[in-house]
Amino acid sequence: MLNGQWAFRYFESLGDVPEGFADDISADFVDVPVPSAWQNLGYDSHQYTNIRYPIPLDPPHVPRENPCGAYVLDFDFAPNPDAPRVFLNFEGVDSCYYVWLNGRYIGYSQISHSSSEFDVTDHLVGGTNRLAVLVLKWGVGTYLEDQDKFRSSGIIRDVYLLERPHSAVFDYFTTTTLGPLGASVSVRASFLGSPTAATVIIADATGATIASAPLEAAAGDQEYTHRVRLDIPAPHLWSAECPYLYTLTIETDHEVITDRVGIRSVGVDGTALKVNDRDIVFRGVNRHDSDPVTGPVISLEQLMTDLRLMKQHNVNAIRSSHYPNSPYFYQLCDELGFYVLAEADVESHGTQMQYLSDTSFPNQVLHWNERIADNPDFLPLTLDRIEACVRREKNRPSIVLWSPGNECGYGLTFEESLRWVKDFDPDRLTVYESSFYDDKKRPYDYSVIDVYSRMYPALTEVREYLDSDPDKPFLLLEYCHAMGNGPGDLEDYHEMIVAERAMCGGFVWEWCDHAVVLGTADDGRTSYGYGGDSGELIHDGNFCVDGLVSPDRIPHVGLLEFASVNRPVRVDAYDQATGELRLRNMLDFADLSGRVTLSYEVTRDGEVVAGGTIESLPSIAPGQAATVPCPVEVPASGRCYLRVASHLAEESALVPAGHRLGLDEILLENGDPRNQDALRLLPADGVPSSPLVVEADDRRITIGGTGFEYVLDRATGLFESMTFEGRDLLTRPMEANVFRAPTDNDMYIKAKWELAQYHRAHAYAYSTEYAVGPDGVTVTASMALVAPAVQPMAHMETTWHVGASGAVHLDMRVRRDVQFPELPRFGLRLFLDRGMDQVTYYGLGPHESYPDKHRASSHGRYTSSVAGLHVDYLKPQENGSHHGCDYVVLSDGERSIAAVAETALSFNASPYTQEELAAKAHNVDLVPAGETVWCLDYAQNGIGSNSCGPQVLEKYKLDAEEFRFAFTLVPATGVQ
Ligand code: GAL
Ligand code: MG
Repeated sequence: MLNGQWAFRYFESLGDVPEGFADDISADFVDVPVPSAWQNLGYDSHQYTNIRYPIPLDPPHVPRENPCGAYVLDFDFAPNPDAPRVFLNFEGVDSCYYVWLNGRYIGYSQISHSSSEFDVTDHLVGGTNRLAVLVLKWGVGTYLEDQDKFRSSGIIRDVYLLERPHSAVFDYFTTTTLGPLGASVSVRASFLGSPTAATVIIADATGATIASAPLEAAAGDQEYTHRVRLDIPAPHLWSAECPYLYTLTIETDHEVITDRVGIRSVGVDGTALKVNDRDIVFRGVNRHDSDPVTGPVISLEQLMTDLRLMKQHNVNAIRSSHYPNSPYFYQLCDELGFYVLAEADVESHGTQMQYLSDTSFPNQVLHWNERIADNPDFLPLTLDRIEACVRREKNRPSIVLWSPGNECGYGLTFEESLRWVKDFDPDRLTVYESSFYDDKKRPYDYSVIDVYSRMYPALTEVREYLDSDPDKPFLLLEYCHAMGNGPGDLEDYHEMIVAERAMCGGFVWEWCDHAVVLGTADDGRTSYGYGGDSGELIHDGNFCVDGLVSPDRIPHVGLLEFASVNRPVRVDAYDQATGELRLRNMLDFADLSGRVTLSYEVTRDGEVVAGGTIESLPSIAPGQAATVPCPVEVPASGRCYLRVASHLAEESALVPAGHRLGLDEILLENGDPRNQDALRLLPADGVPSSPLVVEADDRRITIGGTGFEYVLDRATGLFESMTFEGRDLLTRPMEANVFRAPTDNDMYIKAKWELAQYHRAHAYAYSTEYAVGPDGVTVTASMALVAPAVQPMAHMETTWHVGASGAVHLDMRVRRDVQFPELPRFGLRLFLDRGMDQVTYYGLGPHESYPDKHRASSHGRYTSSVAGLHVDYLKPQENGSHHGCDYVVLSDGERSIAAVAETALSFNASPYTQEELAAKAHNVDLVPAGETVWCLDYAQNGIGSNSCGPQVLEKYKLDAEEFRFAFTLVPATGVQ
């Protein structure tokens, strides 16, 4: 291994590099670790760009001022007589580089994320050797490496010497075939030097040899000179769920090559994608090599962190978007059980952005492929990259799909390359999403693509495909864009995936947020930067912060949602009369028995009143359902749920036994399903002992009672102050509130919302009448929601009722002007003393929850501080709402105020205003309001995934013409 400290010197331009730069490294060179990316060491600067090229679009030319890094390593070498041939290997250098050994030029290579091997046998000396590498930032490959990521440079992966005997197996290709009588493993091989005797041995997982035979010369094979076929009569098959591996050994004189073999088949039957002849579903994620400190340099430990989190969150498939990963990535996927969609290092997305007078997307598509994808000059380069990907990893059973690249458009370079792939490896499937962008110049060949795929299709588009009598499976290559607060549509895609045989699942975009560490904020938090934070000219802001985990691998609620949606067992139904729980096995291969255990609880108003475990499940085959007894006593009153959690029965490589796999909750029926705690919070306001006192003038209605005085502003129809037991409850007047700090997924609808003036909306009262009755005071207000320059967006017929105890009931009948777009939210905003920072609520928690994003949460009674409800998205935005609440209580320990729902209620309690969340670009810059900001909402609009995906589904839009919003505010001394 040649990794370690190397001498390094950065040059802003290739022209500055002196001849013989490696001759003297005493001055100007510094020690840096290899592998590393120089931008992450403080050289050059960070740049994040998505589609647009960072350089002028003029292939194959690159900037004359081409930054470069000179790397020099002195190392000792002792020749090994048994292995005299030596190869110098680089597993990844971004972007292109020249290599010298002991002053002699060895060669040049490119393809940032692929291995290059140089035969250095004749250049190495016994004793000290000097290796010099000059890495250039830009090369022709830059045009084929336009992936959406931070642009990094340097020796980013392992460097090592490989010593081989004179005669050795140079390359081999293992394939497996399943048949009625068992399986067979075929090994085809070619030799380095003259062929030598080689024995192939297969051992099972216990280490017992089960087959062995010599490699024999075989004629008629274009790629390999030798082959052997070994029969495995009763094979253990490999799948992501049961990743059984055999050990393959190839023995020659002086060398033993050890590899692993997974016996499995991949194919398409009609429109079903099959592994081992079973329909399968990819519950996948798109993964980049990305770390906020090391950039694209990912160690084994960092990779294991990702894979562990994935396993723990029910991920079964990974797309190596958008380039080959380190070889150990695929080996780990074999061992741990992940299906891999392996993608070549090819993306020329920036060609879509060439300047055209007609800037429309359809016109862009017509011209997208002209410069590269359909340009014969680029065929050798494209094919080289695709071959480099396929040839190196062809023996990995985890790889089931090859993708020749991402977002280049279609054209001859892909037709040809895919033809090569199909020819070289007919046992796997191909997929290429960008073939969708047909320029209609000629009929293209799509027969080389086995699986139809799309990124971010709306469910309606998927439906159209399914209804069009398709002949290929449908793969959601990228879907549910996990940017910021989201995604909100995982369950809806899941429903489509499980209902349709042609749907083989997909890959959420994407696994992790990309960011760079900028420093430490005053409060000790790490400050992360994204596009634009390094002063770069061309950048795409925070579009790289779109993962299921944060840059430092803290799961976002989106990942918890993913895990829950993809739980291996689901409760289909619960029969309260018989106590039978109907369970469905969502896996593709494994039986639930022995794999999963259950625990269950009955909650009444959030309190656990009964529970138990079901340790041994009956046999439930994949896709099948069965019932298990789970009789529970349902309390006669209260909001009662049966909460069923599934757990992993036995420890697996990365997941401990007992790990929670998922959660189901079933609403139980009883005579009085009202939340009794909510009822208890409501005072039994009878006839006041001393009648309430009302004073009114043109501007205000003041209502006084024992221990309280509330002032209603007649201009708004809302309370401007509420004094209770001598203290002000409100620090500012109440507000009607329909805006939210736009989420990343609101980035398009936001423009409409601003046009609609939702951010400036406020209440306007046409009239306010009051009446003193025997049980309190009623104010009726005829109101509108207005903003400058636009007509009223809604009218609200509002009734406030103040009872003797000071409880205030709101009944608001809302009629929207449906010319306006869906509302971000509808509710009231209250500002409370910041001491009111303890929250108790009954609703969907403990994680933030929205109409379309709440599967990680369940109904319960939760407590938190106000600060604890804030979800600290790197780019601040709406967060921390709780959906489906029966009540919420805020308190400072001495007094409290409850909101008890009559209609739907969700809430946020936050140290920050929505204006502050909307204004700040980075979390570390947020300034608390100094108050508790309490939003009580009828509802919020869905979250969706429109930052790249389709619009929020109709059913989650807050766009009803009429609705009623009703709840009671109950102030009290003490904690309620
Ligand atoms: C896709 C692309 C990804 C990423 C994503 C948006 O178009 O393949 O690389 O850019 O959109 O985050
Ligand atoms: Mg792209």
